[in-house]
Amino acid sequence: MSPEVTAIIEVPLKYANESMILVRDIINVNGSVLVTAGTVLRQEILVSLRKHNIETIWVNDTPKLKPLNQEITEVPHLISTATRQKMIKILQNSFQRGSIAVYLPYLREAIDEVIRELSLHDHLLIYLTDIRKKSDYLYGHCVDVGVYAIVIGLAMGLVKEDIYVLGLGGMLHDYGKTTISDAILEKRGSLTLDEFAKIKTHASAGYNILRAETKVDSRIALLALQHHERPDGRGYPWGSKMEEIHPLARIVAVADVYDALTTERVYRPAIAVYEAKRIINECSSTQFDPKVVAAFNKVAVPVYIGSSVKLNNGLAGAVLRINSADPSRPVVWTRNGAINLLNNNDVDIIAVI
Ligand SMILES: [Fe+2]
Repeated sequence: MSPEVTAIIEVPLKYANESMILVRDIINVNGSVLVTAGTVLRQEILVSLRKHNIETIWVNDTPKLKPLNQEITEVPHLISTATRQKMIKILQNSFQRGSIAVYLPYLREAIDEVIRELSLHDHLLIYLTDIRKKSDYLYGHCVDVGVYAIVIGLAMGLVKEDIYVLGLGGMLHDYGKTTISDAILEKRGSLTLDEFAKIKTHASAGYNILRAETKVDSRIALLALQHHERPDGRGYPWGSKMEEIHPLARIVAVADVYDALTTERVYRPAIAVYEAKRIINECSSTQFDPKVVAAFNKVAVPVYIGSSVKLNNGLAGAVLRINSADPSRPVVWTRNGAINLLNNNDVDIIAVI
């Protein structure tokens, strides 16, 4: 069902666009009519109104809403398909041939490429969203976790050396799964206790293999060991608590769960970005470091300009603008006018329609 967004509303000039129709004359400070009601706005008119310092105008307009099935395709991808394919290839080689040290320079080079591509996006306006999952799950997952961890790390302002460790640690976090059979990893039904116990060994198995590689930074091995640990001590393999978990491992933990939730598996469909974000926020403090969740929230933007949303005040609307200070709290256009969620803490998006 489409939200009711067609209305006569007062719009700040900065939100006005060419598709709008004026419903009231625009009058300057001297009382002269600049543009009459009924005019369809054009770019030249908007430029002229800005010169006259007009702040708001009254229009009748239906914001252009993106059809739901176009939402994903119009979202900028975090990295190019070519870079992702390249990373998957390098990972496949290093996982299958057991030669991490040999492939380390190539992985670093790939991370350089990722950082370069990410810098093409407005830093805090990166849409942390689903990148294509067409390749084999394990390698695709490892690449995505590395990229997501880098994005969260950038949002936290980490230094470049930490970003490298995050990227490499993210990509190698599940290395220990090479010691577990596909029959268990890809099982459709629920796992037996024994099978689950076997899966859990991948954390320490990965640590042991990576630790044996003298050329691999020991923190990378630690990320493989600790990415399933939780601040409340209910994780594995050791049940370590917050301060005992390496700060970078706490970032990989969020990236790992976010990617697992938003990826389609043989036994369940992918979960929507908005829903995955809600689940991660519910587990803040218990399963995840709240500081990491706060950074994740800034980059995991579940809505895009034009998304139709439902608010907790009963109104529906369309996203007009993403706030760079907090992209998860955009400006929403409703039948009562524009609501900037950044300045309205009581108003929340409860659903993306
Ligand atoms: Fe894992």
